[in-house]
Parts: sequence; C-alpha cells; structure tokens
Amino acid sequence: MTKDWLRWHQDYDSPNSSLARRLRVVQHDLRRALTEAPHDAHGRRRLISICAGDGRDVLPILAEHDGGRTIEALLIERDPTLSQRARTAAIGLGLPRTDVRTADAGATDTYLHIQPAHLLLTCGVFGNITINDVGRTIAMLHTLVLADGIVIWTRGRTDDGHDPSHDIRACFAEHGFIEMSFTSPADARFRVGMHRLTARPATVPPMPPGTRMFSFI
Ligand SMILES: C[S@@+](CC[C@H](N)C(=O)[O-])C[C@H]1O[C@@H](n2cnc3c(N)ncnc32)[C@H](O)[C@@H]1O
Repeated sequence: MTKDWLRWHQDYDSPNSSLARRLRVVQHDLRRALTEAPHDAHGRRRLISICAGDGRDVLPILAEHDGGRTIEALLIERDPTLSQRARTAAIGLGLPRTDVRTADAGATDTYLHIQPAHLLLTCGVFGNITINDVGRTIAMLHTLVLADGIVIWTRGRTDDGHDPSHDIRACFAEHGFIEMSFTSPADARFRVGMHRLTARPATVPPMPPGTRMFSFI
C-alpha cells in the first residue's frame, strides 16, 4: 500500500513539528541558492523540484524573490491532488513561469525534453527510496543540473541513530559536487544538504530513455 502523502503534508501545519522546522531550513537554503546559483545571459534561472508535493517549500520563496519573474520553475509530482494544489498555489502567488506536471519523477522519460536546471530540489525523496536508487539518482543529476548548479536535498536519520545522510554527502562528493551547507539539528531527525555541481563533465549525454532512476518503496 502506498503512503498517504496528503496526510503526510498535514504535519507542515503544526509550526513546531519537525517537518515545519525542516521547511524553514529548506526555504532558508533556497533563498541563498537563488542568489548564488548560476544564471543565463539574461539573468534567468531554471529550477526543477522532483517529487514536489504541494510546492510549499519552493513557491512562496519564488514569489518573494522577485515575483518569479526571473525563474522558470518545473515541479514534478505524481499525486494529482497535490500537484493541483501546487498549480493553484502558483496561480495564487502570481507565478506564471511555473509549470506543475503530474508525472513520475523517477522515470527518465519524464525529463526527455527538459533542459538542465540551475537549481534542483530533491526534498523528501532520499528517505523513501533504496540506497541504490539514491546512488543512481545522484549519479544522473549531472544530466539535470548545469555546471555550478545547486541541489538542495533532505534525508532523515533513523530511530536507532543511524544517519544515512553521511553516505549521501559522500555520494555527492563522488559525483562532482561540493557541499555548500549541511544542517543537522541535534534535537531533530531531519537533515538538509545543499551541494554545488563543480565538476560537471564537458559533454553530458542526455538521459537514457526508458530507464528508472528511482521508485518509492
Ligand atoms: C515526502 S513527500 C515530499 C514532498 C515535498 N518535496 C516536500 O518536501 O514537502 C514525497 C512526495 O513524492 C511524491 N512521489 C512519490 N513517488 C513519486 C514519483 N515517482 N514521481 C513524482 N512524485 C512522487 C509523493 O506523492 C509525495 O508528494
């Protein structure tokens, strides 16, 4: 049975919940990323959020940044209710350059006609897929992220104290990323990392079609 992601989002509504605290860290990092990420010759940036949920981490920050004028955002979310909420929120915030797709973010075919981004968020993903899929996804990120582009990601530690985020940080380092920040509050399980792709290969082949990057377990 798949998890009830609508219900999962309700924890955001309690300001002291771990999820609400995590949201504040993600948004803090995103504000920084929006000033430090590379941009095109016209000062514009592309952003991709995979498994975007209802978009509440990204959309208000785009609106406060510059009304979303310079950012073309693509949110990919499989759940139709959550993706519709994100669409409604984007309209309400006046973000016409935001596209919310109800699609499978784990399938490479979803990205076939998508240009790599200056910024990518993968929040609430790595804790829901196998470590092999985490490795495969990070290894494929250079097809989705431009040189010097920034990735913001999250992972929780487990109840027994095991902290898989350290393996994830090592995996980013192995694939050409340097760490910009890593937040790991002692009194909470969530971790938020921000990495920059500093060693993007000169030529990057497109995403292989018909391939699975990850599946939620
Ligand atoms: C833990 S929530 C994270 C939502 C959001 N990124 C956040 O941090 O608030 C995981 C989300 O991934 C979505 N999801 C699961 N599998 C997916 C897939 N293959 N493609 C796109 N979205 C998926 C779920 O519907 C859910 O909204």
